[in-house]
Amino acid sequence: MSETAPARSGEELAEAFARLDQPAVYSPAACEAMAATIARITALKRDRDAVILAHNYQRPEIFEVADFVGDSLELARQGQRMPQRTIVLCGVHFMAESAKILSPDKTVLIPDLRAGCSLADSVDPEELVARRDQLRLLYPDLQVVAYVNTTAAVKAVVDVCVTSANAVAICAKLPTQHILFVPDEHLANYVQEETSKTVISWSGNCYVHHQITPENILSVKRGLPSVKVLVHPECRSDVIALADAVLSTSGMVRYAKESPAQEFLIVTECGLSDKLLLEVPEKTFYKACKLCQFMKMITLEATERALMLGQFEVVLEESVRQGAERSLRRMLELS
Ligand code: 13P
Ligand code: SF4
Repeated sequence: MSETAPARSGEELAEAFARLDQPAVYSPAACEAMAATIARITALKRDRDAVILAHNYQRPEIFEVADFVGDSLELARQGQRMPQRTIVLCGVHFMAESAKILSPDKTVLIPDLRAGCSLADSVDPEELVARRDQLRLLYPDLQVVAYVNTTAAVKAVVDVCVTSANAVAICAKLPTQHILFVPDEHLANYVQEETSKTVISWSGNCYVHHQITPENILSVKRGLPSVKVLVHPECRSDVIALADAVLSTSGMVRYAKESPAQEFLIVTECGLSDKLLLEVPEKTFYKACKLCQFMKMITLEATERALMLGQFEVVLEESVRQGAERSLRRMLELS
C-alpha cells in the first residue's frame, strides 16, 4: 500500500523512470508531457472532489496521480474510507465494480471500458448456479467461493469472495468441507494444496500468469541460485512449486522491502516488477513477467478524460449490487 508522492517535474520523472530502461516510452520529451498532464489531473481531482485509486500493475506515471496504490483487497477496503464523492479506479473493470458495490452513493469511474480481465470473463452467473445446484446434490455442505476477479453478477450468487491475499485463510475458515472455487483453476489448486478442504475448480485462468512456465524461472535460477523467487498464486502449480514465497501483489512489495535478501525474481505481471525497480532502488529485481493488456489500457490521457467528462461510470442494478455486497462484506469480515 502506498500514498501519493508529491508532483515531480518532467526532468525528475525522466530521471526516476530511467531505471526502467524504456527510453522510447520515458524520453525527456515524453516525461515533460506527462508532468503537464499530471498537473492538470491534480487540479481536476480537486475540482471534481475525486480520488484516484490505482492497482499495483498500473503504469508508473499513473502512480504519480494516484491517492492510493494497492492490491485488490486493499483497493476494496480503501474505496470506502475515502471521503471524496468520486472514485476513479485505475485498474480493471471488476475492481471498479467492487468500489461501486461497497460505496453505492459515490460515483465510480473507470477510464477505459476495455480494461477487462480474462478471469472475470470466464464465468457467468447462470452457468455457475447450474453447476452449484448439481454439485450440492452430491455435497450438500458445498459453499461457493469467488475470486474477486469476477463480475458483480457472479459475486451476487456466491457465498463469499476472496482475493489472492486471503484466499487460503478464508477457505480454511469456512465451516464446510466442500468448496466450489471459481474461476481461477490455479488459485483453486493452490488453496487445495494449502488447506484440508476438498476444492472443486472451474476452468478459468489469467491469460497473463498462465503463460509463465517453470523454464522462465529455472533459466534465471541457474545463473543466480540464491535469488528469492516471489510468485503470484494465479500462476500454474509447476511454477508455484519453484517459489520461495507465494504472495499477492502488495505482499510481494512488502516482502521485497522487508527481506534481508538483495536479489528477487518477480513472477507476475510486469507492472509490479517496474514498481519494485522504482520503489526499492537499493535491491535488484529480475523479471519473469508478462504484460496484462487490460491493465495497460489505462493511461494518463484516459484518466484526464475520465475526470473531465465523468466517464465511464459504473452502474449496477441494485439487486445485483446488494447480492455482491453480501459476499464482499463476508470476505472483509473474515480477512
Ligand atoms: P492482487 O490482488 O494480488 O493485486 O492481484 C490482482 C490481479 O488481477 C492479479 O492478476
Ligand atoms: Fe485479469 Fe490477469 Fe490482467 Fe489480473 S493480470 S487483471 S487476472 S487478466
